[in-house]
Amino acid sequence: MSATTTYGPDSASLLDALAAAAEDQIVFDLPGIEDGYDTLVRELPGVAVRFAMKACPVDEVLALLARRGSGVDAASPIEVEQALRAGVPISRVHYGNTVKSDRNIADAFRLGITDFATDSLEDVRAVAEHAPGSRVFCRLATTGEGALWGLSNKYGCSPDDALAIMETARDLGLTPAGLSVHVGSQQMTSDAWNGAFDRIADVLTALAARGIFLDHVNLGGGLPALGYRDKHGRTLDPPMEKIFTVIREGMARLSALPGHDLGFVVEPGRYLIADHGAIRAHVSRLSARRRPDGKRQYWLYLSCGKFNGLYEMDQLQYRLVFPSHRGAESVPAVVAGPTCDSDDAFSHEDGLVPVPKELASGDPVWVMSSGAYATSYMTQGFNGFSPLPYTWIDGEAA
Ligand SMILES: Cc1ncc(COP(=O)(O)O)c(C=O)c1O
Repeated sequence: MSATTTYGPDSASLLDALAAAAEDQIVFDLPGIEDGYDTLVRELPGVAVRFAMKACPVDEVLALLARRGSGVDAASPIEVEQALRAGVPISRVHYGNTVKSDRNIADAFRLGITDFATDSLEDVRAVAEHAPGSRVFCRLATTGEGALWGLSNKYGCSPDDALAIMETARDLGLTPAGLSVHVGSQQMTSDAWNGAFDRIADVLTALAARGIFLDHVNLGGGLPALGYRDKHGRTLDPPMEKIFTVIREGMARLSALPGHDLGFVVEPGRYLIADHGAIRAHVSRLSARRRPDGKRQYWLYLSCGKFNGLYEMDQLQYRLVFPSHRGAESVPAVVAGPTCDSDDAFSHEDGLVPVPKELASGDPVWVMSSGAYATSYMTQGFNGFSPLPYTWIDGEAA
């Protein structure tokens, strides 16, 4: 990122909105999301953005991004419908889920979708039958190494499979339009992108030898949030400048390959949202109990947890701010949600979280950089703990 950018988490307006919130809620900072979008298109000139709406299926966010020129990556007909209602033009909706039933394909096609991701012969044949004449993007598998969430096994095919899939697509009257990858979510290395470009280049070359020429490469998601701590409590500091440089160089390399005339797409989810959403929660209880080994262990129970906003506690120790106890003496605690479920706790084998010693039930807690996958992974009200409502800061308020 350029030295002049101010892009990042914890904007002053987000902190103000958290301070003003008297009840639990998720706050989205729309100007912050806008800033992230502008940074992305500045860093990757000419790239089309298809926001992975699963990361934040919130109408105000979708509408804002649509106004900026973004489209969406949708994973189901219901997501397609929501995107259309929010003002995303159908021409900018990509159906990026390789997993779909015949009915999903037919419903999406009826809604106007003609761009589908695929990764198997079975799926591409179904697309040919239920969405005739559509354009298909074949998703190549990646290792997922270097990412917090690898996504490597469930999706994507080998280069050999990709050739067979694209030949079949052509033979069945579809347009073999593109290749897709996903380097894994919260990808912390630039090497992963280099590896993906190598693989894409090999497949593009092999396709050209078969007379198949593509018009797009979809680089998927994986761009990291900036404000995370991992499950050991270590600050994650992704090499953004290097990542963007490697992506720009990779696109130039692919563009130089003979035969194809390529445009590029990215499908960020986390990068656009995580740092521009935060949760205002409160302390349920700070307690201390003796463990069976005789050691005293502090537990901080919050009003929200894995099942109502903080689903990603498997990999993250979300950053916490205790606005009524700044600079206070702290104790090391396991942080957990309010439900009667033992999974509802930050990972803590290797690092407890320092929390103010004098916390009392009801004290406000801010959970920073928690915007991504928060609303979408929320349960209906597991154990009677309601899904958090959301609010947003708009441009005028900011
Ligand atoms: C097809 C596809 N594109 C994009 C994304 C967004 O990924 P991220 O949030 O890492 O940017 C996902 C997430 O799982 C995905 O499955």
